[in-house]
Amino acid sequence: MERREVGVGLVGYKFMGRAHSNAYRQVARFFEVDPAPRMTAICGRDEAGVREAADSLGWESYETDYHRLVRRDDVGLVDVVTPGNTHREIVLAALEAGKHVICEKPLANNLAEAREMVLAARDAGTVNMVCFNYRRAPAVQLAKRLLEEGRLGEVRHWRATYLQDFIMDPSFPLIWRLKKEVSGSGALGDIGAHIIDLAQFLVGPIAEVVGMTETFIRERPLEEASAGGGLSASGGTQTGEVTVDDAAAFLARFEGGAMGTFEATRFAAGRRNQNSFEVNGSKGSLAFDLERMNELEVFFTEDEPDVQGFRTVNVTEPDHPYAGAWWPPGHILGYEHTFVHTIKDLMDGIKAGVSPAPTFEDGYRCQAVLEAVEKSAESREWIKPEYGGV
Ligand SMILES: NC(=O)c1ccc[n+]([C@@H]2O[C@H](COP(=O)([O-])OP(=O)(O)OC[C@H]3O[C@@H](n4cnc5c(N)ncnc54)[C@H](O)[C@@H]3O)[C@@H](O)[C@H]2O)c1
Repeated sequence: MERREVGVGLVGYKFMGRAHSNAYRQVARFFEVDPAPRMTAICGRDEAGVREAADSLGWESYETDYHRLVRRDDVGLVDVVTPGNTHREIVLAALEAGKHVICEKPLANNLAEAREMVLAARDAGTVNMVCFNYRRAPAVQLAKRLLEEGRLGEVRHWRATYLQDFIMDPSFPLIWRLKKEVSGSGALGDIGAHIIDLAQFLVGPIAEVVGMTETFIRERPLEEASAGGGLSASGGTQTGEVTVDDAAAFLARFEGGAMGTFEATRFAAGRRNQNSFEVNGSKGSLAFDLERMNELEVFFTEDEPDVQGFRTVNVTEPDHPYAGAWWPPGHILGYEHTFVHTIKDLMDGIKAGVSPAPTFEDGYRCQAVLEAVEKSAESREWIKPEYGGV
């Protein structure tokens, strides 16, 4: 029987554009999906750039205006991989046109926008999802399974850090990620959002937070200036103000009673992309580090005392989540597979007519925590995330 297809329209074609394109190319070759994604059209504002991207990434056609893309009859799913300040408008247009939608994280640049998007998605009745792809590393899914089965007992601690170092050089330019009006926030919303989502996925809702943020380098060369050597009137390189946090840290209390610590920074020298967490429960612990993403460290108090200790599970066995669709045991997976798994579950969701987690509502709950941390950093008080209103 011929497999059904859903036409995909992808908005944006750089970092996440490449990651999502790769997922659409691979998913039906390794997983049984029905419908299978058809790489119908990619969209960007620069015609030469988007034409080149369509060619190199494997898209059948391109558009230079997302309004046209979302109205196309051959597009059933719109995928948004643009900076945060554009998520709301593109998502609302896609929902209005009756399309399924997947949107990159964080869902929006603030809670009010996220709320609007949740309500619009509910009205549209189509399938929606936020791309918190790290949920779909097999080792993270195994962690979820162990927690759900109660193998760690009562959870007492969540300890997560997401560490990068790519903007430590003061001559690094003022890219969109450093402008609040484009990105919403800095390390907090970009990488902190991932560990908030993982925490709510694995341990449950966050009840309250107290946090701090810091911007270490407050002026940076403008992108054009650093690329072209532009000069200001006074003869120096043109600079602009950094309006987001370089680093954020916060404490959290979970509704289930666990304590949480979170740290997100772009100033951890040598830590390129270390997304790691540890959970400690009454019966054991587990630990994950994206830079060793095939492994899950586990410790169980029920083991005989003379052999107790952390052990490392290579999460590549056929019965581990997603792993069986790929290679023989021990033949490891990488970053890009988390996106393939996301698209696999999205296709299953479209088939069933059910939005796969993390849904826009999950994205909203993450946004509520981001906002609570920002408020707390300002007021220096404990703040409860505002989950209501959707
Ligand atoms: N899930 C993850 O692990 C992960 C990793 C990186 C980025 N992201 C998220 O993905 C999104 C994009 O980030 P990126 O790193 O790919 O950025 P990027 O700068 O590499 O690419 C952004 C793309 O959006 C396009 N764009 C910007 N405004 C547009 C508009 N109005 N219409 C059409 N296209 C527009 C740009 O031309 C570019 O193609 C952000 O929300 C970011 O937070 C997620």
